Amino acid sequence: MRQFAELAGDVRDPYPMFAGIRADSPVLQIHFDPRPGSRMRVSSLFAVTSHELGRQVLTDNARFSSAGYAEMFGQVMGRTILQMDPPEHQRHRALVAGAFRARVLDQWGDTIVGATVSELIDAFAASADGRADLIPQLTFPFPVRVMARVLGLPDADWPRFLRLSTELIGIMRNWDRAVAAGRELRGYFAEIIAERRRNTRDDLVSQLIEAEVDGHRLGDDEIYPLLLLLLPAGAETTYRSSSNLLFGLLSHPEQLDAVRADRSLVPQAIEEALRWETPSLTVARTATQDVELGGVRIPAGGFVTVSLGAANRDPERYVLPDVFDIFRSDKQHVSFGDGAHKCLGMHLARLEMRILLNAVLDRLPGLRLDPGAEDLHIHGLLFRSPPNLPVRFDPAV
Ligand code: HEM
Repeated sequence: MRQFAELAGDVRDPYPMFAGIRADSPVLQIHFDPRPGSRMRVSSLFAVTSHELGRQVLTDNARFSSAGYAEMFGQVMGRTILQMDPPEHQRHRALVAGAFRARVLDQWGDTIVGATVSELIDAFAASADGRADLIPQLTFPFPVRVMARVLGLPDADWPRFLRLSTELIGIMRNWDRAVAAGRELRGYFAEIIAERRRNTRDDLVSQLIEAEVDGHRLGDDEIYPLLLLLLPAGAETTYRSSSNLLFGLLSHPEQLDAVRADRSLVPQAIEEALRWETPSLTVARTATQDVELGGVRIPAGGFVTVSLGAANRDPERYVLPDVFDIFRSDKQHVSFGDGAHKCLGMHLARLEMRILLNAVLDRLPGLRLDPGAEDLHIHGLLFRSPPNLPVRFDPAV
């Protein structure tokens, strides 16, 4: 798995390959020999690359189960809502859903998200040379700090939390380290939960302690997986989606100018960036029964992957799908998935991207790609984003 992840990390443009597969067969059966010692238990999978069929899979929990995630992430995170099927899934999701509703999130806009962006930009905006690399200096630390604040973690714990979160979300790069980080985070959260049981506060950990499923309160063993899931789900994706948004606009300066001049274009720029370069390319399901999909027979137990990246660039659905165009009329995408498991954090992700982009435009006048930078690109086959984003801006006088 590690070797695949390393290889996959360097793929610059998988879209021609997706287009070739989709044209050939929108549901492709791939046979392979698992490497000795590999965690892959299956020897074939079905890759869905069309927008229409992908949505069919995602919205049909009866025939396409999410239980397969247990094998991928269970050892690191425990039993999370990602791997649950209805009705268990709805019961557990309802517990955290309240905290992630758009209206509730608005209250975090200035206090948590805005404050976090400001701190990060403060650290480099005053630099005399007007240079920065927006990935390590802004987009990477941003969502983990937001999550730390949402969870109500003490500021002094951030360095430890950032290190452990980074190791946990590196699950595809270094499995053993992610497992160790998951274990240490559980110990850390145990202390936080015990403290919140003594002194309830206005944060997400306190909300989970007080929440009830079917009349009973959650035990610590049910709370850990939720907390552990929020890190990879909320941090890895949002850092990459913010990076892709900035990359898309900076590499299309006329569209950046349009957004700079008219901030009402920010939401459509965000949606187009999510469609054009989805941060997380694939979701997985297991067929619960023999199914026919797109003329292909998938046996019960068949492992099915939906390529969100391919679906977002399906020419049946989008005009000139490879072009980044914030003015396109149909920007609706599947980057947040669809159906019962549709991303719980999508409103938070959009809020974070909106506040980040506005702050960047307000605080970094004349922002442009560094003309001296070479080989700027987005890469990855599992997750996608630019490794670096060197920029110049007009230094403050
Ligand atoms: C741009 C950023 C994000 C993207 C592209 C994204 C993408 C996704 C996708 C595709 C799924 C569905 C997985 C599946 O069906 O198997 C999902 C689920 C989920 N996401 Fe996100 N996500 C983002 C941000 C966030 C944030 C900020 C949070 C929370 C802090 C979050 C929390 C979750 C959770 C808890 C689930 C599981 C929902 C369930 O199983 O019912 N995500 N996300």
